[in-house]
Amino acid sequence: MDYFDFKDNRLYCEDVDVNTIAAQVGTPVFIYSTRTLLEHFRKLDRALAPIAHLICYSVKANSNVAIMKLLANEGAGFDIVSGGELYRARVAGADTSKVVFAGVSKTVAEIREAIEHDILFFSVESEQELERINKIAGELGKVARFAIRVNPDVDPMTHKNITTGKLENKFGLDMERTLKVYDASRRMEHVEAAGIQMHIGSQLVSDEPYMKTIKKIKPLIAQIKELGIELKYLDIGGGLGVIYNDESPTTAAEFAGHVIPLIEDLGMTLVIEPGRFIAANAGALITEVQYVKENPLKRFVMVDAGMNDLIRPALYQSYHRITPTVTGKNGTFTADIVGPICESSDVFGADREIPEVGPGDLLAIMSAGAYGSSMSSNYNSKLKAPEVLVNGDQYHIIRRREENADMVRNEQLPEYLK
Ligand code: LLP
Repeated sequence: MDYFDFKDNRLYCEDVDVNTIAAQVGTPVFIYSTRTLLEHFRKLDRALAPIAHLICYSVKANSNVAIMKLLANEGAGFDIVSGGELYRARVAGADTSKVVFAGVSKTVAEIREAIEHDILFFSVESEQELERINKIAGELGKVARFAIRVNPDVDPMTHKNITTGKLENKFGLDMERTLKVYDASRRMEHVEAAGIQMHIGSQLVSDEPYMKTIKKIKPLIAQIKELGIELKYLDIGGGLGVIYNDESPTTAAEFAGHVIPLIEDLGMTLVIEPGRFIAANAGALITEVQYVKENPLKRFVMVDAGMNDLIRPALYQSYHRITPTVTGKNGTFTADIVGPICESSDVFGADREIPEVGPGDLLAIMSAGAYGSSMSSNYNSKLKAPEVLVNGDQYHIIRRREENADMVRNEQLPEYLK
């Protein structure tokens, strides 16, 4: 679901012509739809309404503070994985008591800061981490809440690079160790077991793996209870899949319809950490065709956005729909849509049949709202693209285009080179 539609052969985001934005802001540019972001959040919120729940938007999907603020205003909490993401949450005015903090290598400084801001809980990924949290909380004279991230060894049936809940992955603790660490936590004075967490993978199109995992960890929750530990939060992570091409992912309503009956009897508050579900289809990357060339084997459409802006196709061979922003011209051709980066993997789409385009035409690379800008880089010293948020018939620049000076700001010459 999204609010990118053609009107009179021109691509609109809500009520704004994306061609107008591109003309005024330049390309490449990320364009997001407020209405789409809100609808995704609200769909999930409504579906989960029958039980106590908290939606912690996964900041890594799209960490622009304007988008975070939009969701915070809706009551969202945040799933963070770094001190930087905690900082963003604070800049966005988030309620830090709705922040959960995952990640396998949290540093002393990150833990200290999170305790100082009284986050909801740490999703703890090793026993040593829990000991570290206990020590730091003690130094601060506080008690830090935690959930252990369980690695249930369940196949989420997604791309191997975004699979996180199998034993070959670095994330979480296996079930047996999880129980041992809850047990050990009883002897740690400055931590309090608040919940249990899992995140088995991303872009899950079926809810089967969630169900399987919940069924697997329910007996574990019972064992933890036998230790005298009453957990309040069941955090099932993020991972809800979206439509990039021809997938038919579980809807929010179906997901809730399956999950709620399974967990109701636990009487716990459900925490969910969606990123992609909220942001992916709320954004498009608009890029301008620079050149078209052919060789005996292929045709290449060369655009001004690159893998530095959207690395998903290069990294996960992921599919993004690509369409000209003005259609209705005659004829199609087959081409590879490629970026300017000096890497053969800088390909947004191979052998795509698209309407014929030439220099100056604009293409929209769809579903780029999640893991687009947040994974972008300055590779090849390309400047990071601006981000624009559309709201009805208005649009606002929520990140200005980077300038060369921004790029070299932190670099300095040693004396002997001056
Ligand atoms: N919670 C935790 C602990 C996570 O590690 C992640 C994502 C999420 C929630 C949100 O997952 P989502 O709902 O967005 O699937 N760069 C990859 C995705 C990596 C996801 C990493 N963790 C991509 O572009 O597909």
